[in-house]
Amino acid sequence: MRFIYKFFVGILFYCLNINLLYADTFSSLSPSKNMKIYFNLSNSGEPYYWLEYKGRKVIDKSKLGFELKGKNNLLDSFSVIDVVYDKFDETWTPVWGEVNKIRNNYNELLIKLKQSDTQRLMNIRFRVYDEGVGFRYEFPQQKKLGGFVIKEERSQFAMTGNHIAWWIPGDYDTNEYDYTESRLSEIRQLHKKAISWNLSQTPFSPTAVQTSLQMKTDDGLYINIHEAALIDYSCMHLELDDRSFIFESRLTPDAAGYKGRLQAPCKTPWRTIMVSDDARDILSSHLILNLNDPCKLKDTSWIKPVKYIGVWWEMITGKGSWAYTNSLAAVQLDEVDYSILPPNNRHSANNENVKKYIDFASKHGFDQVLVEGWNIGWEDWFGRQKDYVYDFLTPYPDFDIKMLNDYAHSKGVKLMMHHETSGSSRNYEWHIDDAYELMNKYGYNAVKSGYVGDILPYGEHHFGQWMNNHYLYCVKKAAKYKIMVNAHEATRPTGLCRTYPNLIANESARGTEYQQSGGCKPFHTSILPFTRLQGGPMDYTPGIMEMDISKVNPNRKTRIVATIANQLALYVTMYSPLQMAADLPENYEKFIDAFQFIKDVALDWDQSIYLEAEPGRYVTVARKAKGTENWFVGSVAGTEQHISNISLDFLDKDKKYIATIYADGKDADWKTNPQSYAIEKGVVTNKTKLKIKTVPAGGYAISIFEVKDKKEIKGLKRL
Ligand code: NOJ
Ligand code: CA
Repeated sequence: MRFIYKFFVGILFYCLNINLLYADTFSSLSPSKNMKIYFNLSNSGEPYYWLEYKGRKVIDKSKLGFELKGKNNLLDSFSVIDVVYDKFDETWTPVWGEVNKIRNNYNELLIKLKQSDTQRLMNIRFRVYDEGVGFRYEFPQQKKLGGFVIKEERSQFAMTGNHIAWWIPGDYDTNEYDYTESRLSEIRQLHKKAISWNLSQTPFSPTAVQTSLQMKTDDGLYINIHEAALIDYSCMHLELDDRSFIFESRLTPDAAGYKGRLQAPCKTPWRTIMVSDDARDILSSHLILNLNDPCKLKDTSWIKPVKYIGVWWEMITGKGSWAYTNSLAAVQLDEVDYSILPPNNRHSANNENVKKYIDFASKHGFDQVLVEGWNIGWEDWFGRQKDYVYDFLTPYPDFDIKMLNDYAHSKGVKLMMHHETSGSSRNYEWHIDDAYELMNKYGYNAVKSGYVGDILPYGEHHFGQWMNNHYLYCVKKAAKYKIMVNAHEATRPTGLCRTYPNLIANESARGTEYQQSGGCKPFHTSILPFTRLQGGPMDYTPGIMEMDISKVNPNRKTRIVATIANQLALYVTMYSPLQMAADLPENYEKFIDAFQFIKDVALDWDQSIYLEAEPGRYVTVARKAKGTENWFVGSVAGTEQHISNISLDFLDKDKKYIATIYADGKDADWKTNPQSYAIEKGVVTNKTKLKIKTVPAGGYAISIFEVKDKKEIKGLKRL
């Protein structure tokens, strides 16, 4: 009897306990019920969450909160004062993009918290999508919390195992690293190797990595962590506790070492977690864009995708130079008399050379020609003889800005402006109105800006709150002048291009300038779509056809880690409305049949279908050119060869098409025979199936044009 009594009392207590444990657990499912977020408070009032995907835990219990300067922290002693459930479903039209319509469909869970001892309010808002979740902190207007300084954000992302990760080291100033593929437990030991071969670096912990971070679990789940809508806040890195596999946020510090200066009411960027059992879903997700605000520009008619060439590759290969002289006197004197400074005879931005590029652009249908090194100051762009070098206004003596713009316009081409700031953000802000007015005066509508070197004001970092505000200030200011911005060395994008679509591209990763031996492993371009491209387009600058750089500059003994077919594929796999054909005109003349793909490929799309994807192995995507029935397919391989089997069932069943396949040649090899490619042309329909082999660091590209007149296909075979 006593036993039975004890048993029942036991059961009662057990149930009560369950209730106690779960009474305060709040949860929300995604619209398809795939994804489920849970929120609770620990006994000491610490907020935490966990995440399930198809009933499997993908993020284990993870704490949320902040350490503040000089005040009580926002880490514990919270109670839930209100919970609001909501849902949202809307379809919007991007100004440019991978698709012409984007559905934004989520369920929302808003947890309103109050800290018992301080009475301060902090909300955590979760948005649960079918492909992932976003959460952010919000600080409502309140009496007990006004301005505050963040010592560290302590958002955790607890992994459930020793996953495989594709990572670059945490760094406050550069994303230009080679990727490493390893287990989480191996990050510490591989960190040293991962930071070698880099110019400027501030890696801060041997287990810190950057986002967007791509992972894969042993049971085949793909997890991606990044952030969205990074505004007035510092960029987040993730530091791994490699015993527990818990990542925690590490924000970029300011000059005083603090991580953020906020004033309520305010909110943080979204922390995003994407999950799927199909890697293609990570690539086709619009979660990051959806978490950004709708477009704030009223008139966007002036924002146009751009295909361009430039004198840039001459400089990167060392054939040409940005500077007009080799004399530092050019930046030491207030008034420089160029007639007494000897030219170095390598200055690429000279009238004759730029005209040659304009002619080539006009002949082959490019929109713009980027001319770097057109303005004075380049003699000291690393050295900093002065705290500010450039005025962004004064051309070198051999660059006739009016003549060249007039010449370009007469040939249906625009010049692209270049503003290297050498990291001096204040100097740029001082000159920015004059610089943009000059662009308006001469008919430039796009600027490539850059932030090489340490940031001025001293002590600030490229990815800190200060600089993030600067980058956005420039984008907003540029919009007033109807100027599109492509900022290099800026913080990696977080989807702000939805709100400000004149932010047409960024760099923020190793681009082609690093796709040289030693700079990238062969799998580089099969990782970037999973990582860097999550937040927005990249000015990757592909299209190199002369892979042996010593043929461009005998003193440079590097080679490009790619085949020609890989370089063509990048115009499709690396989505961007801004695309450069980076190689020299004379190299394109040598491969004019392959060059045809670069001329043909579209920049803006109605549809994108990821056909195959595996990080570091291969990415194959088909895209339908905006407003047409034409398609382009691109496929890049990683370290190993890949046999790609694809079906063209995405084509219209009632139409015929002419396809041109640009594939790796049978004997192609990025090290020994990168210029081997095979072009095949024929008729395809939606029944066509293709099997194409790509070599390591290789790829293929296909253009598929709708047949409008039967005569076009006469004599062509079926593929
Ligand atoms: C680094 C940029 O990534 C590169 O594209 C540019 O040419 C140089 N800075 C000079 O601005
Ligand atoms: Ca760069």
